[in-house]
Amino acid sequence: MASVEPTRMEKIVSLAKRRGFIFPGSEIYGGLAGVWDYGPLGSALKFNYKQAWWDFMVRQREGIFGFQAAILMNPKVWEASGHTEAFADPLVECKTCHERLRADQDDEIKAHGEMHQGKGEPAVWTEPKQFNLLVEARIGAVEGEKASVYLRGEITQGVHVNFKNVLDSMHPKIPFGIAQIGKAFRNEITPGNFTYRMREFEQMELQYYVRPDEAEAMAAFDMWKQERMQWYLALGFDPKKLRFREHAPDERAHYARAAWDIEYETPFGWKEAEGIHHRGDWDLTRHAKFSGQDLSYFDAETNERFVPWVIETSVGVERTLMYLLLDAYHEEDDRVVLRLHPRIAPYKVAVFPLLRNRPDLVKKAEEIYRELKKHFSVAWDDRGNIGKRYYSQDEIGTPWCVTVDFQTLEDETVTVRDRDTMKQERAAIGELTGYFQKRV
Ligand code: GAP
Repeated sequence: MASVEPTRMEKIVSLAKRRGFIFPGSEIYGGLAGVWDYGPLGSALKFNYKQAWWDFMVRQREGIFGFQAAILMNPKVWEASGHTEAFADPLVECKTCHERLRADQDDEIKAHGEMHQGKGEPAVWTEPKQFNLLVEARIGAVEGEKASVYLRGEITQGVHVNFKNVLDSMHPKIPFGIAQIGKAFRNEITPGNFTYRMREFEQMELQYYVRPDEAEAMAAFDMWKQERMQWYLALGFDPKKLRFREHAPDERAHYARAAWDIEYETPFGWKEAEGIHHRGDWDLTRHAKFSGQDLSYFDAETNERFVPWVIETSVGVERTLMYLLLDAYHEEDDRVVLRLHPRIAPYKVAVFPLLRNRPDLVKKAEEIYRELKKHFSVAWDDRGNIGKRYYSQDEIGTPWCVTVDFQTLEDETVTVRDRDTMKQERAAIGELTGYFQKRV
């Protein structure tokens, strides 16, 4: 039988598992649909990715404040935000096998029908029913008295319900933003495509408060659209695989007045990476109404009191990291290379002694390894030959490899090999830290 070439997606899933990036959640028990665990390299990659977002969105700007709200919130939050009522997907059920699919996923419904047809069975669908995506949990000590709460379906609400706390503690001048990174949970009907649609995932969001003025809001909306696209380009994404797409009015979330996605061209089509939404005064007005608190802003410059409007940028960490892996993955001659931006690569540098059985080389390499580790995440490898070690580091995206060889013992220089060009050059040991700092 002819062997079937694995798809690009299968190669990424396999590399992610083999090299310690991403594993199926609770795998030894057969896994849990829509849940993935991040291994030693995956957690480093995720950490670097989130930090890069934080630097870009918070640290390097004026008037953007960080926030970390709790995942568990008073259930009234979700009534006020409209999620208990409107955070739902239409679902159809196959009358033959009772599998449930999202009514808007034509490809999956078609494939399912064909699967039954192949077995000579009908696939007859029920009418679409609304299915709420909020995940419920029960908290409290005594079984009968436990209260139902929701695991947050978006990280957004934790920011809006703290609007007054931020005003009173930070006294920000409008326009200003509150940024947050954290877990969200959705009872997705059909999780799948690796980490594309998960039931537990992380979001990175900015809620940007502006005056309630359409021209000002749209200027902020356009500014953030451009800034967010710039973020993907600065990470080295292939520009041809990125585009904007405007939501049709019937496609927008219940809170959105305008919505655009940044999309990425995956092996399964153009898909959402991030949403930029004009949320108007929906959140603050609703929370003011449901909580009975005043969530308005007083503008001392104009002597006006108003409820600000919100422009939001919202991105899924795991989903876009998967796009990044798909984008960075290259097969060249006899090597696989992940061309990750040095900033987010799990290791910045790998250090090797040319021969593992030469204590003088090993000792020198260890000294360099320990020195570089003060500044960067550094890998150590002394297995097999140098060529194999290079390829092993290429596959996990390490931008540079440092080899300690016999010349090192004579003149205190090492070989630095570049992942992308595969070029090697000599560098003085004393200058290595600066050499990498300049390039990361
Ligand atoms: N606060 C707005 C909001 O949550 P969204 O479009 O529902 O908007 C924003 O989600 C981003 O979160 C998406 O663009 C996507 O990157 C990510 N996301 C949403 N659902 C996801 C899921 N089930 N699995 C992984 N990522 C998801």
